[in-house]
Amino acid sequence: MDDEDNKLKEEKARQLSRVVCICKGINLKSVLSHIDGCSTVAEVNQCAGTGSGGCKGERCGPRIKILLSKMKNRKSK
Ligand code: FES
Repeated sequence: MDDEDNKLKEEKARQLSRVVCICKGINLKSVLSHIDGCSTVAEVNQCAGTGSGGCKGERCGPRIKILLSKMKNRKSK
């Protein structure tokens, strides 16, 4: 594996470790592992445990909505 592959792998790991739900400390990797089969933010919240923190999903809800939209677009291509 060359340096470029390592950099890409590190960048992907860094992105997956980003916290989506700040209140509950749930990162992108965890959300993505639960998002398949979900079509609404409420469904993702139920599966991933997001949206139940102090802000009641005000901060993570919009992020999850964007993720759902991206997933939907990816599936339709
Ligand atoms: S950021 Fe997810 S519940 Fe507050």
